[in-house]
Amino acid sequence: MKIDKFIPISRPSIEKKEIEFVTEVIKSGWVSSTGGKYIDIFEEKFAQYCNTKYAVATSSGTTALHLTLVSLGIRSNDEVIIPDFTFVATANAVKYTGAKVVTVDIDDDTLCVSPEAIKKAITSKTKAIIPVHVYGHPANMVEINKIAKEYNLFVVEDAAEAHGAKVNGRKVGGLSDAGTFSFFGNKIITTGEGGMITTNDEKLYKKMRHLRDQAMSEEKRYWHTEIGFNYRITNLQAALGVAQFERIDEFLTKKKKIFEWYQEGLKGVKEIKLNHQSSWATAVYWVICLELNGYDESKRDALMEILKTKNIDTRPYFYPVSDMPMYDDSDTPITHKVHQTGLNLPSYFDLTKEQISLICNILKKIL
Ligand SMILES: Cc1ncc(COP(=O)(O)O)c(C=O)c1O
Repeated sequence: MKIDKFIPISRPSIEKKEIEFVTEVIKSGWVSSTGGKYIDIFEEKFAQYCNTKYAVATSSGTTALHLTLVSLGIRSNDEVIIPDFTFVATANAVKYTGAKVVTVDIDDDTLCVSPEAIKKAITSKTKAIIPVHVYGHPANMVEINKIAKEYNLFVVEDAAEAHGAKVNGRKVGGLSDAGTFSFFGNKIITTGEGGMITTNDEKLYKKMRHLRDQAMSEEKRYWHTEIGFNYRITNLQAALGVAQFERIDEFLTKKKKIFEWYQEGLKGVKEIKLNHQSSWATAVYWVICLELNGYDESKRDALMEILKTKNIDTRPYFYPVSDMPMYDDSDTPITHKVHQTGLNLPSYFDLTKEQISLICNILKKIL
């Protein structure tokens, strides 16, 4: 059994509204970050969505993280705690500030950073924690915020993969000092490349806007008060973002449906675990997660190879950040176990029930 046409892991859904808004921007000539209306609209809508007072659009999820950390005053000699199980951008953004990256273990149900592991890693140099809402499941923000309060630490949510996810009914991005999002082409909504920071802190908001635009003085054009960045998003990207944002509920509903179709298609297969959802969480199923009990990396990779020959795209779970040459080793047994057993299955908006049923049948046969 083989599928006729290659099924990718992800693919954006671009429809009439997106083309209309982007075309309007191209025709207007306001393709950069000044002059157009879409950046303001995008920021306003996003802040409203996350129930925060402010939002700052950026050129990517990575620059959103870096801009937030710099604006919070994180620098060399500081330590920042992150999960060992995340996309490398979380660690890199910390590294850009000169601070030390401290990677800690995750909980094996949520795949998100373990509050207990955070507590154990705190030193007198710790300044911030970055919980990552990985694969669309939120981190345990209640416990993390308790720890942050006790030790007077900043919390920045890396919500690159979890637009719309909730903790006890409250949306991610609005649960800490700041939240950061990515709009890369495989994310829940896309602007091609792009990011967003959400916050309720006015001082932080002003600092981030200032540094995003080369720290140019508001009173005196071309006078710069410190070393800033060009981390701006363009009006062209924001136009795509506003059109995508209008469809966010449609995307999230379909993603949940896709998860349910996989759940149904793989019912009764004992040796697997699909996406988990904690009782306090509303997950958003950004990607479908499949963990294979008892597998190691080579067995998992072999399965992915077979699926590829059947025209089914997959991707492996993230590797532990602490295994990469530029980061320190870390004692994180759960991350080290889980990363070998997991893979992501095709999860994009336009997938049909028939396609998922085929994928499940092929998978069951191989397993
Ligand atoms: C957890 C996480 N953090 C940060 C990023 C960085 O976002 P971007 O690719 O937009 O820079 C990503 C993107 O893939 C991500 O998955």
